[in-house]
Amino acid sequence: MNWDFKLHNTQYLTHGFHTYPAKMIPQIADKLLDEFGRNAKILFDPYCGTGTSLVEGKIRNINSIGFDLNPLALLIAKTKTTHIEEITLKLYLENFHKYIFEIIYEKGKRNNVLIPNYQNIDFWFSKKVQRDLAHLKNYINNSIDNDSIKNFFNVAFSQTIRECSWTRNEEFKLYRMTEEKMKFFKPDVFSVFEGILSRNYFNLLEFNSTVKNEALINTYRYNSCLTIPKKIIKPESIDIVLTSPPYGDSSTTVAYGQFSALANQWIFEMETPRSLDKELMGGIRAKNKTMFKSEVLNSQVEEISQIDQRRALDVVSFYRDYQKSIDNISVTIKPKGYTCYVVSNRTVRGINLQTNNITIDFFKNNGFNHIETFERKISNKRLPKHNSPNGKLGNKTDLMNKEYIVIMQKK
Ligand SMILES: C[S@@+](CC[C@H](N)C(=O)[O-])C[C@H]1O[C@@H](n2cnc3c(N)ncnc32)[C@H](O)[C@@H]1O
Repeated sequence: MNWDFKLHNTQYLTHGFHTYPAKMIPQIADKLLDEFGRNAKILFDPYCGTGTSLVEGKIRNINSIGFDLNPLALLIAKTKTTHIEEITLKLYLENFHKYIFEIIYEKGKRNNVLIPNYQNIDFWFSKKVQRDLAHLKNYINNSIDNDSIKNFFNVAFSQTIRECSWTRNEEFKLYRMTEEKMKFFKPDVFSVFEGILSRNYFNLLEFNSTVKNEALINTYRYNSCLTIPKKIIKPESIDIVLTSPPYGDSSTTVAYGQFSALANQWIFEMETPRSLDKELMGGIRAKNKTMFKSEVLNSQVEEISQIDQRRALDVVSFYRDYQKSIDNISVTIKPKGYTCYVVSNRTVRGINLQTNNITIDFFKNNGFNHIETFERKISNKRLPKHNSPNGKLGNKTDLMNKEYIVIMQKK
């Protein structure tokens, strides 16, 4: 079976609404649901990010539940799985065009806006960009009374914030572009926003016409490493878990909090958006080593601690949460239900951590059989092939260029 999907269009329907680090390739979710979700009624993604698996679940009329801790990710996931009536959306879009027209052409209007006083706002945005983003924010908050439409506009707003800021778009962490580049970077905020809105509008129409609006999709801001309350998910109620968990702690791998910080500030008024990374898996530093229910992991932690005790504790922090989350998730799955985990093996201090085999061990310990592991080359997924071990630009170490799709089945 080939899982590479090189040159495939990964942006179809609502999948292309917004960029996000380490997004799942929709074709993988599609193929996994064909193979293991044929009779599924409820799907669960405990690390849903922007909701790739939830969209694919909705396409097949499967009810889905998604968890994430990043408000931006949840906004995108919700919007990508929501049908909005074309007529209603058109009315709001026309109203918005009139508003922008007035701001641009009526004397004095464009400069007459209160710019929010966010921390470091002058570091990330020019004054003109701040002013125009403030107009968009005012419009969305004061002129849109329909929640789904507000979300639709906010998704385009978030992408506009990123594209019009001085961040280097090719980086996951927040790095500012060079002074030289900044001098020539003069984005037109309203045109960027209108472009994203109209692209997403046409994709939404396609989604509306090809996907039935029957399945229920619920998303929660919930930490998957905490015990899952029965009122959110009943034990043994889930047919299939389809997910791509983070592949390491946010501060040394993909910093989802940093990636989303500017949007989380503008849209959700988060005061310290970067601190989100500490809440994510592995974010709280372990003080001591632990014995895991995986021999391979225990020996790999030992190997790293011979070289660097501090890094060994980073690894322990991450897998301690990962093990806990697998213990919790296992409880929610029906007998004979499947889990499909798309994982990557990162390298720490020259040791390639076998997350694929560790995942198998953790699930086996919860009464699952290993069905199969598929391998794929990473080609079009947005993942760093290199990463900086100490967060500094230019200091790179090999990370990964392969993914493993680990399939387990509950006994
Ligand atoms: C690899 S991404 C998922 C991407 C997703 N499959 C998609 O296609 O957009 C992993 C996600 O896990 C989330 N996350 C990390 N730690 C978490 C935790 N403890 N509980 C819930 N979500 C968490 C991150 O915010 C991130 O969105």
